[in-house]
Amino acid sequence: MFYYLIRKLLFLIDPEKSHTLTLKYLNSKHIQTLMDLFLKPISSIPTKCMGLEFPNKVGLAAGMDKNGEYINFFDKLGFGFIELGTATPLPQLGNTKPRMFRIPPIEAIINNMGFNNLGIENLINNIKKSNFNGIIGVNIGKNKNTSIENAINDYLICIEKVYCYANYIAINISSPNTKNLRNLQNGILFKNLLKNIKKKQKEMYRKYLKYVPIAIKISPDLSKNEIIYISNQLIKFKIDGVIATNTTLDHSVILKENKIEGGLSGLPLQKKSTNVISILYKQLNNQIPIIGVGGINSLNSAQEKIESGANLIQIYSGLIYHGPKFIRNIIKNL
Ligand SMILES: Cc1cc2nc3c(=O)[nH]c(=O)nc-3n(C[C@H](O)[C@H](O)[C@H](O)COP(=O)(O)O)c2cc1C
Repeated sequence: MFYYLIRKLLFLIDPEKSHTLTLKYLNSKHIQTLMDLFLKPISSIPTKCMGLEFPNKVGLAAGMDKNGEYINFFDKLGFGFIELGTATPLPQLGNTKPRMFRIPPIEAIINNMGFNNLGIENLINNIKKSNFNGIIGVNIGKNKNTSIENAINDYLICIEKVYCYANYIAINISSPNTKNLRNLQNGILFKNLLKNIKKKQKEMYRKYLKYVPIAIKISPDLSKNEIIYISNQLIKFKIDGVIATNTTLDHSVILKENKIEGGLSGLPLQKKSTNVISILYKQLNNQIPIIGVGGINSLNSAQEKIESGANLIQIYSGLIYHGPKFIRNIIKNL
């Protein structure tokens, strides 16, 4: 009830501004102290996935904490894992503002951020300063000015830099807001990417004697045949996990006169992403774990993702629309 009152005020402000202001405030020392006093730790059953032990199945999806500035706050909320990023090799501003829009009647968000971030080095410094007990995933992407033909290089640079500081690495090739990025999910570009990141992972393993799993984050706008192709390649290259899904370019739920550019997330994505998870589950035959994300806005919808084959889940829009208590309820009861 309390969150819905606060939400009324927050929704009066520009979405991106209220996002930054709220997180800055919630990450402050006095709020952290209050959270320590009033939030009881949630008891949950740890889950093994990608060779790691996750304190619980519920994670924060990428994009909420792009630079790793609010790790301690999300830790206190109870998330079992936090996916930071997307981070790119060099800092970049992202697309022009406004680039984040709420559509409250259908519990959706459209974003056209374009990987605004302070770069991978800055993210690593913030991870070093944090003291999160759960699992930290680092989601990486390519810089806007890197051509798609040279994109692999950007991923390899980020893997090399972040290898010692991440519990897992997520390869984002599914954001709709970076031109041609999604081409990396197709044919020879996809195979080449997997081959090279696997080679880099082996090289890093030999250097540090530490195995850091790598997961690929895919789009909800793929055809069944494309998902089957991706699944076969993931098995062939022994990729450690798949994250399904990113935001959708399908805006059919929105009136034509309200068309805004960008990826749609939240409730309208729920069934679409669950469908991708079901196809993946059938194809992967339990050989590769699935992290399910897209439109989770209730305990039921979280359970649906697990029943469709997801080993873990992630949430973004649901937190904006339903607040911290909703997250804690899912962690407690999933
Ligand atoms: C404002 C915003 C920014 C996002 N930024 C990223 C990003 O940088 N990298 C990424 O992989 N996904 C990003 N996402 C996608 C989310 O991680 C998630 O896959 C998607 O929103 C679906 O989940 P949801 O319906 O729970 O929001 C972003 C989503 C939103 C709403």
